[in-house]
Parts: sequence; structure tokens; C-alpha cells
Amino acid sequence: MCGIIGIVGREPVAGLLVESLKRLEYRGYDSAGVATLEAGSVLTRRRAEGKLRNLEIRLAKEPLTGLIGIGHTRWATHGAPTEANAHPHATARVAVVHNGIIENFRELRDELEAAGQRFSSETDTEVVAQLVDFHLARGESPAASVAATLKRLTGAFALAFLFPGHDDLVIGARRGSPLAVGWGEGEMYLGSDAIALAPFTDRIAYLEEGDWVEITRAGATIHDETDAVVERPIVVVSAAAFQVDRGSYRHFMAKEIHEQPEVVGHTLAHYLDLSESRIRLPIALPFDWAKLERLSIVACGTAYYAGLVAKYWFEQWARLPVEIDVASEFRYREPPLPKNGLALFVSQSGETADTLASLRYCKAEGQHTAAVVNVTTSTIARESEAIFPTLAGPEIGVASTKAFTCQLSVLASLAVSAGRARGVLSAEDERRLVRALGDLPGLMGRVLRLEPKIEKIAREISKAEDVLYLGRGSNYPIALEGALKLKEISYIHAEGYAAGELKHGPIALIDETMPVVVIAPHDKLFEKTISNMQEVAARGGKIILITDEKGATAASVPILETIVLPDMPAEVASIVYALPIQMLAYHAAVFMGTDVDQPRNLAKSVTVE
Ligand code: G6P
Repeated sequence: MCGIIGIVGREPVAGLLVESLKRLEYRGYDSAGVATLEAGSVLTRRRAEGKLRNLEIRLAKEPLTGLIGIGHTRWATHGAPTEANAHPHATARVAVVHNGIIENFRELRDELEAAGQRFSSETDTEVVAQLVDFHLARGESPAASVAATLKRLTGAFALAFLFPGHDDLVIGARRGSPLAVGWGEGEMYLGSDAIALAPFTDRIAYLEEGDWVEITRAGATIHDETDAVVERPIVVVSAAAFQVDRGSYRHFMAKEIHEQPEVVGHTLAHYLDLSESRIRLPIALPFDWAKLERLSIVACGTAYYAGLVAKYWFEQWARLPVEIDVASEFRYREPPLPKNGLALFVSQSGETADTLASLRYCKAEGQHTAAVVNVTTSTIARESEAIFPTLAGPEIGVASTKAFTCQLSVLASLAVSAGRARGVLSAEDERRLVRALGDLPGLMGRVLRLEPKIEKIAREISKAEDVLYLGRGSNYPIALEGALKLKEISYIHAEGYAAGELKHGPIALIDETMPVVVIAPHDKLFEKTISNMQEVAARGGKIILITDEKGATAASVPILETIVLPDMPAEVASIVYALPIQMLAYHAAVFMGTDVDQPRNLAKSVTVE
């Protein structure tokens, strides 16, 4: 959600804070702000509504020279995205930046107002500044004031504090939202993730749940939730984690779409032994597929659709009953879970609040837990019994693309592994499926070459007000994902439907103005989908068929446009069919002139409920 940064430096930090915030802008971009101590003691803020660029303009007009500071990029939760609500929030004695939500802020605000504290914003964050101020005003030290404040807060947060008069101290705290501490040469840093600290250092410690930290130029003192001093391991973050350059692409999303052959290949290399055509998982499993009674898959957004495709694979290849739900529903449904159950969490960021809460619920219910995550240092990764990494590299475009196909590649490999262990797939089936997975990068490369044609079709889509996506079987979730992608970045209303459900409602929407994207490789469900397509054609709907050679030849309905993909094994086709729907959404958004990488109201990592 929001991104935070803190620097105790040796040179003016305002520019460094902004540099770092640029790397965190994927988490939110409703407003941004920094605070520094000018002349070592005078707390000074610069804040601006909207994107970071506005803050840069403000800083160019009114520069800051302090050697210590904190910064924030906001994804609004409590209070409109105005300058008054922009972080840092400050009193005369403290400034704070916050990622997360303070759930008991109303109660605290009432109490503090009654005690005479005066508020200047609508945010939940300001209660944190006011509470710390309340303690400082009574002569307590910054550390004691923060420690006392933390004990009063409920909710999820990562915080960084700056204190006028203390030019060698930033305090950070973490509960529920991630926070990393970075070690430099005579400088120290705090940041929401390693990417934020990449310009300064690769030596990082991740705070644990409940930790708080005092950083000075000499180092860090970390405390746990009981305030005891603790050590947290310093890790060296790999250079690969820092590749956040757009290269020659106009948008990160375009770059990430085009990276897919490479990153899917890279990911599969960790799950397949291609010389033997066998599955080779990167870890020894802490559970036995054969003994599992049920698999529960839990995720949000695009990661949920990856899980939905995987349900088809696990059920068909491993005859393993699968329940799947979005994390925000799962966590509050309190579903009964069998003793021998595995709960699998799919998440790019590994920080999604609802997914994390579901993981904790499943652990408490005695489930085995495993996570398919892209950020392996994330909270979900650290709290799961087993981690299955996707090796997509940093995904910066808010609309997920390469993380999705990498998630699918890992989930397919796991489903084959389960199928073998449960005696459903033969050695020959395994060989066939592994070869099919091994061919994915090459197939993806061929599909990317269809971009000029897809771009042309996207121009038509960009003129529509509503678009319907249809698919069956494991391509039904791809229809859902296609509609989500289009909505997210072009703001065109779109719905994904199981093709067989068409006649139960959405058919009423169809007229000559409505494009219907049909995802239908020539597989065993093809004929059924084509009948549904005929129903659309009979009502004058504009059809865009995504299929293969055989499908294009067999489809005997008047079709507006056909996108013809190479032939491929039906079992894994959905992974490749994700690419044309990503490109359709991308080019439709480019035609619409929207902010493709940072669409309005969205955030890359949703660390609040
Ligand atoms: C947000 C992002 C989506 C993502 C979802 C789940 O909505 O915009 O792209 O699919 O969160 O995030 P996760 O990091 O758990 O995969």
C-alpha cells in the first residue's frame, strides 16, 4: 500500500528520499511527502497531493538540506488524498510516516482530544504522532515514547519517526506491514522493502512482527514487542532483486509482458528436470501429497485466478479435492478444514493482508501450509511451512502479468508432482506434461510476435463501453483474468464468464456494440464453446476469438477477428492464452491514454484489509 523510507545520512537526504520513494511508488501514489531536520534540529516538511513528480517540483522550489529525514508515498485509506492528509504527519515534537491502518484511531483520537491534543488531518496516522507527542511532552525519551505508543495501537503498521532536536535518530516499528533496516557506510536506512533501499545498500535486516528499531549513523538497536533488545540476521540481497529499469519499453507492464518467456523459463528451470523429463521440486516437501485429503487454495486478485486454474489441474491430474476462495472471504468464513489438509497461498508480494490472515488461520487450524510467492523475503513466505518461489523478478506494473504466468508454471509443476505421488499420473504422463511445460517459453515467444495484430484489435476494444470474456475449463479463469486486466488499466467495464453461463444472464447484454472475447483452444470443450459463440453471433455481438489453427478453421460463425495461436498441448494452454489477453488490455489502455503502470485507485501490494 503506502511506502515508507527513513535515512540517517551524511549528506542532504531529501533527494535520496525521493529517489527511494520512486521505487516505492508502485505501492501507492495518491500523495507524497518528506520531512527533514534543517540545521540539525528544525523539523521541516514538504508534501504534495498526487504523484511524486509534484513533490519533486515542490522540493525544487523549496529545497531541504537536512542530513536526516523520513518520506512517504500514500495510497489513501482514511481521509481524502489531499495535502493536509499527506504524510509525514507531525507535531512540534515528532514527525511520522505510516503504512497500514490504525484500527483503534477513533478511540485514541477522542482520548487525545480530551487531553488537549489538537489534530490537523483526517487520517488514522495522526493519532500516532499525537500519542508520541503526548509522551514526549511529559519528558519521556523518544524511544520510551514510541514504545509506550506502540502498546496502545491496534491494527497493521510500519512506522518511521523523526524527532526535532535529535539529529542522529530515526525510530521504526513493524506490525503487520513490512519494514527493512539497511546498513550503509556511516549511514543507516529504513524502508518498506529492499527495492526502496537498493540505491544505498544491499545489506538488510527484515524486522519481525512486533519489532521496533532505533537507527543512528553508528547502527541499529532492534527491540522485540516486549522491548527486549534482539538481533535480526543481516542478509545480502541479490542484485537481481534490484532490476527495476524499464529498458526501452514505454511501460513496465510492456516490459514485463515481454519478459515472460525468459522468467517462465527461469522459474520452470527450478521445478523441472528437462533432461529426464521429470518434475524436480526445489525443496523437500514437509507433507505427503498422497496423504492429503484436501487442498485449500487462497489468494487475491490475479493470484486468485492463478489458483483457480490450478484447481482444474489438481483435481484432474491428482484427483485431489480442491477448495478455493478469495482470501477476504476465506478468512472470515472460518471454514472447517480436514486434519490432513494442505493450505496453499498464492501471492506475488507475499504481503497481501487478507492472504496473510488466511495463512495464520490455517496454521492455527493445524493445516500444512505452503506459499507460491515472488518475494521470498516477504511475511507470507517467512510464515509458511514450505515456499515455492516464482522467479519472475520484481514486478513493477501494478497490473500483474509475468508474476501470473510464473505462478501458473509453479502450480502446474506442483499439480504434476501431486498427480505422480497420488498414483494418478503415470511416468509417461509426467514425461508428457513436463515436456509440455518445457515448451512454454518458446510458445510464449511466438505468441508475443502476434502483438501488431493484437494491437489493432485492441483499438476496437478501446472504443467499447463493455466487454465480455468467455472461456471454459481451465480457460474460464483466463476469461476472468482478461476482464480484470482490461478493467484495471483501461477502465473499460468488462466481465469474465464461464461460457456455459452465458445463457443464464449475460446474453441479455449482447448487442452490436459489445465485443465478446472468446478464449477457446481446439480442445475437448471447443465444440461447446463454439455453440456459445453462435449464440453471441446470432445476437449481433462482435466476436474476438482466441484459438489455434484447428479452432480457426472449425469455427463456422461470422467472426469479427481471430487471434491464432500456435498448436500446443491443451493441458497447459491456459498459461500461454494469458498472453494475448494481457496484450489486448495493455494496448486498449495505451489507446485510452491511461496511466498503464499506475492505474487510478489501485496499488501493487495491498497490505490493508
Ligand atoms: C493487488 C494487485 C494485483 C494482485 C493482488 C494480489 O490487487 O494490484 O495485481 O493480483 O493485489 O496481490 P499479491 O501480491 O498477493 O499477489
